[in-house]
Amino acid sequence: MDLVVTSPPYWAKRDYGHEDQIGLESTPDQYVAAIMDCLAEWGRVLRPTGSIFLNVGDTYHKRSLVGIPARIEYEAIKHGWRIRNRIIWAKTKGMPDPVKNRLVNRHEYIIHLTMRETYYYDLFGYSAAYGNGSNPGDVWTINPERNMGEHLAPFPQEIVERAITLGAPEQICSVCHTPRRRVLERTSELDPTRPQAKRAMELAEAHGLTQAHIRAIQATGVSDAGKALKVQTGTGRNSVEVQRLAAEAKAALGGYFREFTFAKKRTAGWTDCGHDAPARGVVLDPFMGTGTTLKTATRMNRDAIGVDLVPLMEAPVLGS
Ligand SMILES: C[S@@+](CC[C@H](N)C(=O)[O-])C[C@H]1O[C@@H](n2cnc3c(N)ncnc32)[C@H](O)[C@@H]1O
Repeated sequence: MDLVVTSPPYWAKRDYGHEDQIGLESTPDQYVAAIMDCLAEWGRVLRPTGSIFLNVGDTYHKRSLVGIPARIEYEAIKHGWRIRNRIIWAKTKGMPDPVKNRLVNRHEYIIHLTMRETYYYDLFGYSAAYGNGSNPGDVWTINPERNMGEHLAPFPQEIVERAITLGAPEQICSVCHTPRRRVLERTSELDPTRPQAKRAMELAEAHGLTQAHIRAIQATGVSDAGKALKVQTGTGRNSVEVQRLAAEAKAALGGYFREFTFAKKRTAGWTDCGHDAPARGVVLDPFMGTGTTLKTATRMNRDAIGVDLVPLMEAPVLGS
């Protein structure tokens, strides 16, 4: 398993009519303990590079929020998990609520947990899809989709899409279980809407700077030439030449050379472990309900596995 995306029953919210259901424990502590048991099982089947995106909401009890998401995070850390993000799912619409002495609730959390410090994560692909190229932050503003059965909490496909884009590789080696990751390369393309960038491009053209000049600037960076040379040449073999080109380019561009140090990146290829045995990334939803996760994962060319105590849906047609 590469990714778990799931929305378990919240504490004391609904009765799914099964004696083994989660959510109707008599105390928050018992509920959190049940979620910890789930995490342990998911951790058992998750690949080391895997992630969990756990959608949880809070509950009012005796006129106070119980603090369920925070309690889950606190316990998860004690059990060895890493909390990589507490994403706020901000809802632009919601059920009318007649409360008069507090604000209506318009958000939930999606907790991103990993077992390891390093894990599969496609921030580049995610930023391109959701952030115009830059890191779009930990607030997901999403309209609830109203296509769910009456007794089910709506789980928008976009949440699953975002989690899959970030955390589920499209391909993973079936022999060594290494996900294929993007190999990024900096281009010389600048954002022409920025006046400084426009000026930098004009100067580069006027002085006949080549791609090698631009790469040399990018390698030597803004100040730390020593560190950058290693990045550029690997062995340092071309360091004298790189330094010469960078100096030439900096003389031509003046302060505008900096513009090229944050030029756009592009995907030059994908890592390849050499086994030539690719499999699709696998997504699990252990509380699959109507199967939102499975449908979305299938649409995004990942394999998907769903589990539920109460069979509420027929299995989606996989591969369609
Ligand atoms: C909030 S719903 C999930 C909704 C789902 N994300 C969707 O889009 O339809 C929670 C689901 O957990 C299931 N459930 C409750 N306790 C469970 C347990 N112990 N094991 C597996 N599933 C359980 C319920 O039957 C219900 O379908």
